[in-house]
Amino acid sequence: MSASQNRKPHVLAADGSSVKLPRHVGFIMDGNGRWATSRGLPRTEGHRHGLQALRNVIRHAGKIGIEVITIYSFSSENWNRPETEVAFLMSLLRRFVQRDLSELHDANVRIRIIGGRSDLEPGILSLLEEAEELTRNNTGLNLVVAFNYGARSEIVRAVQSLAKQVAAGDLKPEDISEERVSNALDTGGLPDPDLIVRTSGEMRLSNFLLWQAAYSEFYFCDLHWPDFDEAAFDKALECYGSRERRYGGLDAKAL
Ligand code: IPE
Ligand code: IPE
Ligand code: MG
Repeated sequence: MSASQNRKPHVLAADGSSVKLPRHVGFIMDGNGRWATSRGLPRTEGHRHGLQALRNVIRHAGKIGIEVITIYSFSSENWNRPETEVAFLMSLLRRFVQRDLSELHDANVRIRIIGGRSDLEPGILSLLEEAEELTRNNTGLNLVVAFNYGARSEIVRAVQSLAKQVAAGDLKPEDISEERVSNALDTGGLPDPDLIVRTSGEMRLSNFLLWQAAYSEFYFCDLHWPDFDEAAFDKALECYGSRERRYGGLDAKAL
């Protein structure tokens, strides 16, 4: 069964009507540090609680039948943080894969990793590749993990791969289309995000899915990521359902 056949309509709106669901939701999971420091806790506690919020979001997305979620878990700029925090985030990812992989696999979740791989520690890289390999044929929720991810570097890698094909004589420059560029990105083959959610009140993309977000709807909320729960997710979906996407054209009512 394909992911789209798995989709169940979900009633969310306050008036009981069903709301159109996004196919793909991107999450910029921000505010873990502030969540912790506002409670007098070390920032690492915020990341630990953030992982629990993520588990709930994954479960909820699968339950309501969303096809793809992309989670921004570590940016190519996050290496600029203190070494101890970076080491904690690496060990948290390792623990997440080790503890949750079999449950995710049983739930028919397909895992895909986007981001730079060449500068990752071999132990982490092989864990991530194992997760992708094990879940390759699953047909439920697509969980895209943006790890060591930066959109500009993703675009550079895509341009390099197209340039190599041109240099080898396999591709003509004039045949480079939007579709070919899309397919050369790490997200090649996935639908663009319909909705991008960022928590903690910040209103920026921070180098997340720059190409793919050309026509995404944005939803910003003040909750810090560890407090982002099913109800907050439903609220974001309800807000998305009320948006009118025009793609440069006109609203149907105006025609
Ligand atoms: C998001 O929370 C998690 C990562 C970036 C890895 P932050 O750690 O950015 O939390 P704040 O923004 O400092 O509160
Ligand atoms: C974006 O959050 C990256 C992730 C959520 C992984 P940051 O907290 O790193 O972003 P800035 O630095 O506030 O833009
Ligand atoms: Mg932050």
